[in-house]
Amino acid sequence: MKIFIDTGNLKDVEGLVPLGIIDGITTNPSLLSKESGDPRDILKRICQLVQGPTSAEVVSTAADAMVREGRDLASIDKHIVVKVPFTRDGVKACKTLSSEGIKVNVTLCFSPTQALIAAKVGASYISPFVGRLDDISTSGMYLVREIVEIYDNYDYATEVLVASVRHPLHIVEAARMGADICTCPAKVIDAMFNHPLTDIGLQNFLKDWEKAHAAAASRP
Ligand code: G3P
Repeated sequence: MKIFIDTGNLKDVEGLVPLGIIDGITTNPSLLSKESGDPRDILKRICQLVQGPTSAEVVSTAADAMVREGRDLASIDKHIVVKVPFTRDGVKACKTLSSEGIKVNVTLCFSPTQALIAAKVGASYISPFVGRLDDISTSGMYLVREIVEIYDNYDYATEVLVASVRHPLHIVEAARMGADICTCPAKVIDAMFNHPLTDIGLQNFLKDWEKAHAAAASRP
């Protein structure tokens, strides 16, 4: 499964990309507005660093304007994926942009019917928001299961990009279900690494090694 960072923060990208496990980035208007600097420059730099799909979201709401904005965003770098919200206008814009060879990520997906429609208009990615569904006592991961099943039934090429990820268990469940991608905040990716038994185990290995070498060195 591919792992993307859900961020507009260059430090997150610079910190995690060298680990060799990051396949792409997703941003959204909320994430980019937390950062200082021109969003286009930030997106350009992110693309240079990650050399993989980087979602940049339109803020227009009418289909024609979304298409114009999407073309403009796509001109920033060859790795840009245009993100459009799942609205009727977003669906129309997705169809046009996809037919021009521009990759589109349909975002704010909360139902399997929305995911089916996005696949039919050639979306490269569908983004079900699992955490926000969990927030309203609805299983976000169940939606992912439904989408994976529907796409498998018809061999849709649209990739399932699990978004609004809040903790590592979302990642484990997504991987078990066969989702293509999880996009995660940097702190959730950090949490994937941690296990107290690894830390204790390493401490003990090093302590035993030091003890044995100190004993050998003190032998006459
Ligand atoms: O990029 C969109 C998505 O991942 C947002 O997550 O935590 O704001 O629901 P969240």
